[in-house]
This record gives sequence, C-alpha cells and structure tokens, in this order.
Amino acid sequence: MGCEQQYNVLSKIATNDGHSEESPYFDGWKAYDRDPFHPTQNPNGVIQMGLAENQLCFDLIEDWINRHPEASICTTQGVNGFKDTAIFQDYHGLLSFRKAVANFMGRVRGGRITFDPERIVMSGGATGAQEMLAFCLADPGDAFLVPSPYYPAFDRDLRWRTGVQLVPVICNSSNKFNITRGALEEAYKKAQEANIKVKGLVVTNPSNPLGTILDRDTLKTLVSFINQKNIHLVSDEIYAGTVFSHPTNFISISEIIEEDTECNRDLIHIVYSLSKDMGLPGFRVGIVYSYNDAVMNSSRKMSSFGLVSTQTQHLIASILSDNEFVESFIQESAIRLATRHKIFTTKLAQVGIDCLKSNAGLFFWMDLRGLLKEPTAEAEMELWRVIINDVKLNVSPGSSFHCTEPGWFRVCFANMDSEIMEVALRRIQNFVLHPKEANVPVKNKSWLKNNLRLSLSSRRYEEVVMSPHLISPHSPLVSART
Ligand SMILES: Cc1ncc(COP(=O)(O)O)c(C=O)c1O
Repeated sequence: MGCEQQYNVLSKIATNDGHSEESPYFDGWKAYDRDPFHPTQNPNGVIQMGLAENQLCFDLIEDWINRHPEASICTTQGVNGFKDTAIFQDYHGLLSFRKAVANFMGRVRGGRITFDPERIVMSGGATGAQEMLAFCLADPGDAFLVPSPYYPAFDRDLRWRTGVQLVPVICNSSNKFNITRGALEEAYKKAQEANIKVKGLVVTNPSNPLGTILDRDTLKTLVSFINQKNIHLVSDEIYAGTVFSHPTNFISISEIIEEDTECNRDLIHIVYSLSKDMGLPGFRVGIVYSYNDAVMNSSRKMSSFGLVSTQTQHLIASILSDNEFVESFIQESAIRLATRHKIFTTKLAQVGIDCLKSNAGLFFWMDLRGLLKEPTAEAEMELWRVIINDVKLNVSPGSSFHCTEPGWFRVCFANMDSEIMEVALRRIQNFVLHPKEANVPVKNKSWLKNNLRLSLSSRRYEEVVMSPHLISPHSPLVSART
C-alpha cells in the first residue's frame, strides 16, 4: 500500500496537519539531523541552537546519583525496592514523589509559597500537562488567548487532539514585548467578532522565546482580566528555576493569588515540569497544579494516559527530597546559566548584534532586524536560510513563534558544551565580519559593518576585523575558500 493510501485509512484527526511540524522551527531541527555538527567527524555540520535543553548541570546530578546508589532500583543497594516499584501504578503517584515535587516547586520560587502535594497531578512532561488542561477546560472550537511570540509546539499541544483554537495576543518590541491590558482586550474582541468562545489565557512565565519574566503589575493585570471575563488562566512556569540574574525575582502566579483575595482561584492553573529547571526532558515529569478541585479530579483521571513511570518517580523523590542538594543545585545552575548567557550576549554585542534584555530561560531573543532586505516575513525567511545553510547554525526565526515583527531569532545557549559554543560564536562573528562570503542580502551588508563600527571604538574595530583568530577553523565559510 502506498503512503497516500495508508493515510486514507487512518482517522482524519491523525492525518491532518495539527502536529504543526511543517514549520521552519522543525525544519531547522531536520536540517540539523541531516548534517549534525561534530568537532572531529563533521566540523562543518549544523550546530543545534534551536533546542531549549539545559545541559549545564548534569555533573551535579550524576555526582548525587553516584553518592546515593540506593535511590535506584537497578543497583545492589536499591534492588530491594524493585518489586514494589514495578507493580505500583496508582494514578495519584507515589506520595514521596508528590511531596518532593511540591517541595521543589516551592524552592525554585524562592520559598515564598508552598504547594500542596495533594494537588500535584502527573503528566507526560509539560506537553501532556498542557493538553490535559486544554481538554479539561475547553470544548472543540473554543479558544485560548496566547501572548505572542509563543512556544511553537503550543499549536500542537493545545490544539491537535482537543480541537481547541489559539488566538494570539500581539505583543511587540516597542514595550519589550510586555503583555498589556489593551492587547488582551484587542485579542478577546477579535475572537468575539469571529464568534469564537474564549475559555482562557495561556501564558509562559518565564517566557519562551523571550527569556523575560512577568513583573508584578503585569501579573495583576492578567488576574484582573481573566476574573473580569470569567475565563481560565494557565501559567506555564516550566522555566521558573532558570532565572539567573537578580534583583528581579521570578514571581509565580500563585504568589499573586495569595495576595489577591478577590481572585476566583477556580480559574487558576499552573503547568510545571522538570524538563528545563533540572534538564531532564527524557524523564517526562510533567505536572498540572490546579486550584480548582473539579479540574484536579478530572485531570487526575486523565493522567492514566501519560503517567510518569514509577521508577522515575522513585528516583526523583529521592533526589528532590535532599534539601541541601536542591538548594545548591538551584544556585549553581543559575550561576552557570548566567555565565553562559553573558558570554554569548557580550560577544554578540561586540560585533554589533543586540538581544532583548533577559534574565531567564535557556535562550535569548536576537535582534537581526537591521539585516533584513525589507521588514517582511519573506525577508526573515531569506535571512534564516542563509544562517542555516551557509553559517550552519540552527537558530529559530521569530515567525515560527508567531512574532508579528520580522527580524527576531531565538538562540538557545545551554544545550552545548563550551567548545561548541566557541565554534558557534566564531561562526556568527565571521558571518558579521565577512558577510560577502555568506549570502547576506546585498542591501544589508553595510548594516553589519556600520553596526560593528558603532559598537566598537575604531581601534578595537581594526583589531577585531584584522584578527585571524575570529575566523573559525571549522567554519564552512573558511573551508569553502580552501
Ligand atoms: C513553554 C514550554 N512549555 C512546554 C514545553 C514542553 O516541555 P516538556 O519537555 O516538559 O514536555 C516546552 C519545551 O520546550 C516549553 O518551552
């Protein structure tokens, strides 16, 4: 049977394009998969900077595991727990796991709030948690408002199997992409005019892709808006533990509702996971934390479709109930993320590339508007193709995050080691300093040089431009010449 015929015998929902994989976000991943960079085996390959993974603290977790062999059921010290772990499948999950996760959620939020283990509902990562909430809160055809730019896979996670729609709340660079009451009202009105019933607002705090956190006033605006409209608020806080620079502290939606006694708590739900803060996406530990009892009960029943394996619960319960370890992990992770972020953004600034000021996440939002031939989505794609095909970096274009302003790109910085980071930086610098060799749309080669001149003193400019060290030995641009 041909592929087309095979598709014909499947359900319409399974074969529609609700997975949203036909986008430059996923095309970039495919380009990386076809030609992945390797320092010795494929030094001219594509460097993956489109994956929000936190690989900076594995040594800390590995060290803890080495010191606690009894935490695993696959060791001599832990095998006694094998039978009980293997047969346990209650959808409430292990109490020790729920307690440890509630404890961790409180600690990554600075210990200012506590979470009730009885309200922890498991899911397969935040992906499963988002779908579960969409399923519980909305009927097919209903909509959620989502401030844009937003995480591309929401188009799949929230919509595909639920039939829910997403209506973007347009945010832009004029106020650093803040979410305003005006923008929320505008999106709500648009949905109403199209006869679409709005059931909720989904925010990501800290933001993916911006790497920024919502301030107290904005959070209060969101709470007042959803209460006034009587719609739900889903706060995706899976980057809560990645806030790496202070004094601006991360504020969870749960802090706001503790203070706001007027808020209808039945409308508030948090999505969490260990994929980002602990760098464990493979463990698929996702959490729905709802203040609404009915939602909590329904989602717990649904969690049977995507439970966290008991073996994983068992290990995570042990790691996260070690308070001393948790505290030092959170602190060290923030230091490493801050260092990495600083190296990247400083080196980009040295060659005239600005980024949105941010203090969280595993990425930053890079401003290449000056490099576009014209301010259009087509020009953004043209530039993106140069970056992926010639510069060989998989960064993700803003359009894939539904950003309405062309020229922004998300750059992930925590999924590679320092050596690969150096190669990536040299490629970007080389691209800026020698644009002729990359296929930059002609009109904008001068922007690169002008911006570079503006960002450096004239002496430093000469040093940078003349320095042979900035040209990567691994650069495809260099090898193309030799
Ligand atoms: C905002 C946001 N929500 C959810 C997810 C999915 O996370 P998980 O791996 O826990 O399913 C991601 C992953 O990048 C994300 O950025």
